[in-house]
Amino acid sequence: MAENKGLRSLMKDLVVSKTSLVYLLTEEDRRIEAEVKALGMAFKPPFRTYIWSCTTGVTLDDEVVLPKPGILDALDWFMGIQEAAFLILHDIHVFLKGNPPVLRKLKDAARRIDNEYKTVFMASPILEIPPEIQSDVVLLDVPLPSVEEVERLLQQVVAKERHRDSLQEALTDEAKDLFIKAGAGLTSQQLQHLFRKTLAGKQTVTSREFEALFEEKRQIVRKSGLLELYTQPISVEDLGGFATLKRWLDQRKDIFTKRARDYGLSLPKGVLMMGISGCGKSLGIKAIAAFWRLPLLRLDMGRIYDGALGTPEECLRRVIKTAEAASPCVLWIDEIEAGIANASQKSLGGSSSRILATFLTWMQEKTSPVFIGATANNIELLPPEILRKGRFDELFYVELPSDAERMEIIRIHLAKRNVPINRFDFPPLVKVTEGYNGAEIEQGVTSALFRAFVQNREMTQTDLYICLETIVPLSTTMREQIKTLERWAHERALRAGGE
Ligand SMILES: Nc1ncnc2c1ncn2[C@@H]1O[C@H](COP(=O)(O)OP(=O)(O)OP(=O)(O)O)[C@@H](O)[C@H]1O
Ligand SMILES: [Mg+2]
Repeated sequence: MAENKGLRSLMKDLVVSKTSLVYLLTEEDRRIEAEVKALGMAFKPPFRTYIWSCTTGVTLDDEVVLPKPGILDALDWFMGIQEAAFLILHDIHVFLKGNPPVLRKLKDAARRIDNEYKTVFMASPILEIPPEIQSDVVLLDVPLPSVEEVERLLQQVVAKERHRDSLQEALTDEAKDLFIKAGAGLTSQQLQHLFRKTLAGKQTVTSREFEALFEEKRQIVRKSGLLELYTQPISVEDLGGFATLKRWLDQRKDIFTKRARDYGLSLPKGVLMMGISGCGKSLGIKAIAAFWRLPLLRLDMGRIYDGALGTPEECLRRVIKTAEAASPCVLWIDEIEAGIANASQKSLGGSSSRILATFLTWMQEKTSPVFIGATANNIELLPPEILRKGRFDELFYVELPSDAERMEIIRIHLAKRNVPINRFDFPPLVKVTEGYNGAEIEQGVTSALFRAFVQNREMTQTDLYICLETIVPLSTTMREQIKTLERWAHERALRAGGE
């Protein structure tokens, strides 16, 4: 299974290696309790899970064990017991702030239980580990529920419903898949709430139920301020050329489905689309999202650096978390070289290279279904690390469109504007657009349409020919740059177009 390494197995690794203090960054109290308990039960003999909160003191399965509510007492007691066990401390950030005795006690605890199978899980929704204890604490940024956990939650909700049998029947593999897709990335509390709300009293499920789930996701994304959910409808048919990319996609048609996951296929990480301006790189990314029917999130690189929403590192962390929360999705990073890739840029100092490092690590290790669609115009600014194997699945190089491709692009843009294509003689149009990129062809079509419109008649071959002919393509002034780019890409990237 190539999915999320679940929370439980992450915690298990820490417990087995006798980690004393674990800081769990999460807002999901109940899930943490359930997961830690389940982990404890899996050991032989089982570990007990004690829970401390400042109101109830220490409890074990809701029975009060130590009625004194102080955190220092709780830690003292835990150090003293003679058994392998877990202690969960809730809202820990409140008690760490300006509280030297607690910091000292935690350091003592770390030393005392260093060689025992005892782990203190400190849970908090805020990442604030005081420097005094940083070297004693292992941070676990609690991942959102994995696909399996989401499926389990769905089953639990269904099992409690009145019409569970007919619901169970309505939840075909396909419907389940949609539920998981819509729900993946929400917290377990949100999921439970949503699943309940969606299924309450229902005997079957329809598309209306899914819409509610997707809307919830949209809200999550909107709140982040760094990402934008791109909603303009587009399809792969709007993209002329790109035959190799289209084939690449076709081979991965069902890759984001449950069937593929169950089969053990690993999810693609992303692609980088390189090439000169106006050849359809951005359009290509949009088409990828449309092809897989995944939401497309556009990252505003500028906002990461402008400081309004926090330091660049914090912003990137938030972007990653939000994208994972909205996954499965396509994260679109336009002109990646202008942001993270240009690590040597002086004005940004060290932060841009740190951003690059964080980003690369994430790309390498991410297990969530976030597909990265990046584009780059200026490959010279791209640091070699980003091009290394294991980061992107494929580097695509987008060239100026060939004769056949230009014909396709002209047709697409005519058809998009409801101009009947049988009115045109294509070979001369293909000839006159030699060296043009897709954006220039589109510009020719729109000018021709306008020309006909002001004269209050239908667009003709002459309109189109004249309008296309008057355009001076970018490629005439960029011949040298294009050659360099082509030479560079020839050895390193796959041509997105071709037969
Ligand atoms: N292959 C193509 N098929 C159809 N339309 C195209 C194609 N290439 C470009 N276009 C048209 O040109 C517009 C601009 O293309 P796009 O923004 O994708 O180019 P780009 O390579 O991302 O350019 P830039 O580097 O300037 O961002 C598209 O929205 C589309 O209308
Ligand atoms: Mg672009």
